[in-house]
Amino acid sequence: MATQRLALLIFLTIVSFPFDHGEIIPSKSQGVRAAYWPSFTGYPASAIDTSYFSHVYYAFVLPSPTTYTLEITPDDVENLLDFTNATSRWNPSAKTVLSVGGGGGGTLPGIFSQMASDHYSRATFINSTIEVARDYKFDGIDLDWEFPSNDTDMTNLGLLFREWREAIEYEANVTGRPRLILTSAVYYASNVSLNGGPRSYPIEAITEYVDWINPMCFGYHGSWENFTGLHSALYDPNTNLSTDFGIGSWIRAGMPPNKIVMGLPLYGPTWSLADPNVNTVGAQTIGTGPGSGLLVYSDVINFNEENNSTVVFDNNMVSYYSYSGDSWVSYDDVRSIELKVRYAQNRSLGGYFFWALGQDLDWTISSAASEAWLN
Ligand SMILES: *[C@@H]1O[C@H](CO)[C@@H](O)[C@H](O)[C@H]1NC(C)=O
Ligand SMILES: *[C@@H]1O[C@H](CO)[C@@H](O)[C@H](O)[C@H]1NC(C)=O
Ligand SMILES: *[C@@H]1O[C@H](CO)[C@@H](O)[C@H](O)[C@H]1NC(C)=O
Ligand SMILES: *[C@@H]1O[C@H](CO)[C@@H](O)[C@H](O)[C@H]1NC(C)=O
Ligand SMILES: *[C@@H]1O[C@H](CO)[C@@H](O)[C@H](O)[C@H]1NC(C)=O
Ligand SMILES: *[C@@H]1O[C@H](CO)[C@@H](O)[C@H](O)[C@H]1NC(C)=O
Ligand SMILES: *[C@@H]1O[C@H](CO)[C@@H](O)[C@H](O)[C@H]1NC(C)=O
Ligand SMILES: *[C@@H]1O[C@H](CO)[C@@H](O)[C@H](O)[C@H]1NC(C)=O
Ligand SMILES: *[C@@H]1O[C@H](CO)[C@@H](O)[C@H](O)[C@H]1NC(C)=O
Ligand SMILES: *[C@@H]1O[C@H](CO)[C@@H](O)[C@H](O)[C@H]1NC(C)=O
Repeated sequence: MATQRLALLIFLTIVSFPFDHGEIIPSKSQGVRAAYWPSFTGYPASAIDTSYFSHVYYAFVLPSPTTYTLEITPDDVENLLDFTNATSRWNPSAKTVLSVGGGGGGTLPGIFSQMASDHYSRATFINSTIEVARDYKFDGIDLDWEFPSNDTDMTNLGLLFREWREAIEYEANVTGRPRLILTSAVYYASNVSLNGGPRSYPIEAITEYVDWINPMCFGYHGSWENFTGLHSALYDPNTNLSTDFGIGSWIRAGMPPNKIVMGLPLYGPTWSLADPNVNTVGAQTIGTGPGSGLLVYSDVINFNEENNSTVVFDNNMVSYYSYSGDSWVSYDDVRSIELKVRYAQNRSLGGYFFWALGQDLDWTISSAASEAWLN
């Protein structure tokens, strides 16, 4: 998921599964209030204040490039045990989801593509995810494939979800346990045209077999561009790079709104301005700004304070930026987060998630979002 670069309804009668009543999908009033825990940053799982979250995602574990079973390295074992140990002590308890995959490109999209292309490798992968999830006491599994690269991948993704759901239903029947939750982090919009031709997510399969999706509604702009931009704008009248467009595209494509959990960033991209006096959205830039192009929320606030930054709330795009000298940062703060949560509720979405835990400043944003949803 998110580093700097991220990056038709035939309404099917949803098959009624035995555990769907109340346990798996939170009530509308509670919502999915989720966050990913990057296991690789050193931020301890025991530090997570779960009063702000209904679900915490473990990020990430990876499939073997040759066998497609999950490859649990010694570091993974340590992090998984840290997580499980913390989980058992969380008060209040939050549901836990094991996320498989992640961003960063490389060979991972190709490995998922290969895995999903064949019935036997899908089954091997699926069985392994269930086994690891149960071994470490998770309540669910999440797929973060960034991104299926053509129509074939998208079709195979639909098959994967169908077989995955069947397998977790079967496992729950056999063991008598509540079935595992199945979710997926997806592109901010229902069609992807990044790195390849346009392709559409398999909406019918997702609707039928996945409990909810997590569209990554951030990373619209970054220092790979030579102009400033709001990387998680709620609205953008000039382009399709906005959360309103992305969420709208999923709904127009037939995704039930209550199965959409909207992404919110706890980080922001930074640029160096070409001219410190030209500092609006769209201003020309000459490279990365502080933090080598990325600051987490707590660092943005520290940067703003120490450098007397000018802070601007963009009322039309519903996001923030700040600048000081030639440094320019795009981020979200309390007000934009609250408005985005209101937006999610207004569109009857299932909830929201953050990328990522460990980036907030004293739970400022996490608590504002949770309070906005619950009140
Ligand atoms: C589990 O967490 C507690 C409290 O954070 C800590 O004292 C203990 O050492 C941990 N145990 C393991 C096995 O990591
Ligand atoms: C996956 O698990 C199912 C159910 O236990 C089993 O029938 C099947 O043979 C397994 N498939 C593979 C490829 O491991
Ligand atoms: C789709 O993309 C995958 C992964 O990049 C590739 O292996 C496969 O050949 C592509 N299929 C088609 C039909 O283009
Ligand atoms: C699980 O059990 C239910 C209820 O007995 C049954 O309808 C369903 O077909 C079973 N599903 C699987 C995948 O075994
Ligand atoms: C910005 O980048 C675009 C595309 O990479 C390029 O065409 C344009 O000349 C650049 N503008 C400036 C002012 O560097
Ligand atoms: C935005 O998306 C719509 C629908 O896919 C498309 O018709 C339109 O051309 C896109 N606009 C821009 C500016 O890319
Ligand atoms: C997505 O792609 C499908 C199929 O190509 C097309 O029918 C639909 O209009 C596109 N949706 C958006 C929002 O661009
Ligand atoms: C203030 O700005 C300077 C120059 O960009 C930077 O080195 C410093 O880290 C900033 N202060 C904070 C707290 O980020
Ligand atoms: C920020 O403003 C304070 C008070 O006006 C001043 O003392 C300080 O030097 C300024 N810091 C910077 C980095 O400009
Ligand atoms: C909710 O949606 C309606 C219709 O789209 C809009 O008029 C209203 O301003 C929205 N309210 C909020 C709080 O976003």
